[in-house]
Amino acid sequence: MKDFKGKIAFITGGASGAGLGQAKVFAKAGMKVAIADVRLDALHSAVSEIMEYSGCKAADVLPLCFDLTDRAAYTSAADTVEKVFGGPPHLLIQTAGVNSFGPIEASTFDDFDWVMGVCLDHVVNGLVIFVPRMIKAYGGADGVAREEFHVACTSSMGGFIAGSGCGPYCAAKAAANNLMYSYADALAPYGGGSTVLCPGNINSNIGDAEKYRPEHLRNTGYHVSEGTMAHLRSVHSSGIDPIELGEILKEAIENGRIIALPFSDPETWGPMLRNSNAQVEEYLLTAPERQKKREERMAEMMKNRPAGGGPGGWEVPEGAERFGMARKDLDYVDPSKKPQ
Ligand code: NAI
Repeated sequence: MKDFKGKIAFITGGASGAGLGQAKVFAKAGMKVAIADVRLDALHSAVSEIMEYSGCKAADVLPLCFDLTDRAAYTSAADTVEKVFGGPPHLLIQTAGVNSFGPIEASTFDDFDWVMGVCLDHVVNGLVIFVPRMIKAYGGADGVAREEFHVACTSSMGGFIAGSGCGPYCAAKAAANNLMYSYADALAPYGGGSTVLCPGNINSNIGDAEKYRPEHLRNTGYHVSEGTMAHLRSVHSSGIDPIELGEILKEAIENGRIIALPFSDPETWGPMLRNSNAQVEEYLLTAPERQKKREERMAEMMKNRPAGGGPGGWEVPEGAERFGMARKDLDYVDPSKKPQ
């Protein structure tokens, strides 16, 4: 996506930190911006900040206050955007997130439900709610959109590593990374794109997230206090500026990058990423027996396959139905799509 002027953006977590930086950047690029967040006061001041930074009109910023894990509320916010801005977003950026640090073995269900709910479930919610609307409104064929459209998500470098001190967060971010790759693949035939932004440290307010953890998810296994939040704030104060991060995301979207790694210090991350890949590689290389057995089994299967497909193959056998297709009434889905 290269042309932002007059188009619609929907940015979650847009009242603070990275989401607010993105809202400023895309409003300045001429987009109408809907910002979704759970904190009303922060939304109000964000609207003024966005207008001041971008010079846009009040009518071009739409604050929406709701909990992104609430699917009914998210659906009704999507309807509101269409009503107010005249269509679904061309650009969906899901950035809201929370974190809480503590030993994974001390984690409670509430710790998992809160962190994974915001960092992963809300991303799923937005994709399920908006992607069909975006394809119907803007999708084309053969990789060419009728109007440019793109989905993005702010994940984290935490998605690439195991984090025993913030396990639910890293698990959610790993899943979000993977999901955005699937959407990149899925949207390409319609001319849409997908980007996952993986920052390392952001100068934001995430260190205060515990303050608005919902009442029903407050049974944490971690030690949380004013002191621990102050410590986190000091860690995040050395992070990247949210506007600079927003510009990095914009550049990635403009250039059709699936992944953007703003904190790409190779000295720190190189060995960690190599290490986790090396474990997979080592397993593959040290398992020649297993591999040999698998090859023999496949060869046997291929030998016995009936003409036109059969066990172990992707071709549809004569007269049979292909698995992995969309339900027949979903007419916006490209009928030539095959399971990947
Ligand atoms: P932030 O706390 O400044 O902004 C997050 C926003 O999400 C807040 O305004 C908050 O009210 C909103 N939010 C949280 N739960 C919500 C819910 N259930 N419904 C609606 N809105 C909700 O934090 P920051 O750092 O800007 O976070 C943005 C994203 O960046 C998150 O996904 C975070 O995981 C990611 N990230 C942050 C890093 C950091 O060092 N701060 C590093 C890497 C990734």
